[in-house]
Amino acid sequence: MRSGAPIAMNRFTFPKGFVWGAATSAYQIEGATSEDGRGESIWDRFAATPTKVEDGSNGDVACDHYHRSKSDVALMKRLGLQAYRFSIAWPRILPSGRGAINAAGLDFYSRLVDDLLDKGIEPYATLYHWDLPQRLQDEGGWANRDTAAAFVEYAHAVSRKLGDRVRQWITHNEPWCASMLGYQTGRHAPGLTDWPSALAASHHLLLSHGLAVPVLRANSRSAQVGITLNLCPAVPASPSPEDNDASRHFDGYFNRWFLDPLYHHSYPSDMVSDYVDRGFLDPAKLKFVQPGDMSAIAAPTDFLGVNYYNRTIVRSDRIPESKNQPRTVTLVLESEVTDMGWEVYPGGLFQILARLGVEYAVPKMYVTENGASYADGPDEHGRIADARRLRYIRDHLVEAHRAIEHGVPLAGYFVWSLLDNFEWERGYRQRFGITWVDYETQQRTPKDSALWYRQVIEANAVTRD
Ligand code: FCB
Repeated sequence: MRSGAPIAMNRFTFPKGFVWGAATSAYQIEGATSEDGRGESIWDRFAATPTKVEDGSNGDVACDHYHRSKSDVALMKRLGLQAYRFSIAWPRILPSGRGAINAAGLDFYSRLVDDLLDKGIEPYATLYHWDLPQRLQDEGGWANRDTAAAFVEYAHAVSRKLGDRVRQWITHNEPWCASMLGYQTGRHAPGLTDWPSALAASHHLLLSHGLAVPVLRANSRSAQVGITLNLCPAVPASPSPEDNDASRHFDGYFNRWFLDPLYHHSYPSDMVSDYVDRGFLDPAKLKFVQPGDMSAIAAPTDFLGVNYYNRTIVRSDRIPESKNQPRTVTLVLESEVTDMGWEVYPGGLFQILARLGVEYAVPKMYVTENGASYADGPDEHGRIADARRLRYIRDHLVEAHRAIEHGVPLAGYFVWSLLDNFEWERGYRQRFGITWVDYETQQRTPKDSALWYRQVIEANAVTRD
């Protein structure tokens, strides 16, 4: 006897209540960098420095979201989004980093939050997505411990104003990037190349997170608080002991240096030894760690945000390293890569999520960013057939689903990004949006991936043929 419709083996249904969203960040979309009392940020300064941004561009106009937030929220509604992850620009709120509050800056986000709620879209607010007020950088930025205290002041100002309506708070976005790209490789603002400063910066970023957690909880009674890390599986290029060790080192540098303090109350001892051996840390102790810091950093949180894009194949470079180079290099495989040159490797998302459950017992996770840069633009009918992005997102969602089936407490997924935008040192040539932005006219056109994503959200399921 036949029993109803056949069960499709290629249909992946998500748990009820799974949150579907899209993400952006302030400097990448807002523009209006000198309006309504906003102070200068390190990204304004960095982008204005010749050769730092590939196409010589900056965030002065970007997607002009500051003036178009209402219609952008309407776009989100049309795309069926249930949640929107955005970041707040610290220099709009405290133009000098601390002290006087700029009411106009707070009002912008307050209106945005009201518009979102009005449309039934849940705001997920990130406090720090890399746009530090330049005034704080002049005093050392994140390498200076005082910046952690300034961050707490900023978190207080924002959550006092928005805490009645914003329930989901993310303290930091990717402290690895903020510290290592900003202070070690110099590819991001503030563009420094000094290992000891980078390690101090990483600690002060984590510390500021831990100190802000109770402040957010006090000002936002029903708050769910977390932090977002970018995580990347490290794979040795060969079975050799050297490559294995290089892979361990990369994992420590990229993943464990941030996960261990948050969940295990300490920095990974192998990395402390490595950094001491290389002269980046005081041999006697971690100079910048003060009593109480590690328990502050490990303050219990409600969720972890995971940003996943690719994995890294690691081999030992076996050559005397220069002081500013990590000990590892990445190999480009013969696999598909996006326009960023990043390998497409959906299985890595499953690996990361599963590891977080097993090794770190993370109680709840969101994929707070995942997506791909492909330049596909409008055809003569105005349609944007971004089949590769659609496939990228679909295949990662299948891996996310697999993680849930293995018991990973994954509560939602945010595609990066709602809009094409300013991709940091890569400028505007890299397009991550599910929505095409014509930067001449500021017209937004949903790409095929966006139209498909709307159907996924409606069905709460992904189908793969
Ligand atoms: C992440 C950043 C985000 C965006 C994507 C492509 O590292 O958080 O702002 O640039 O990469």
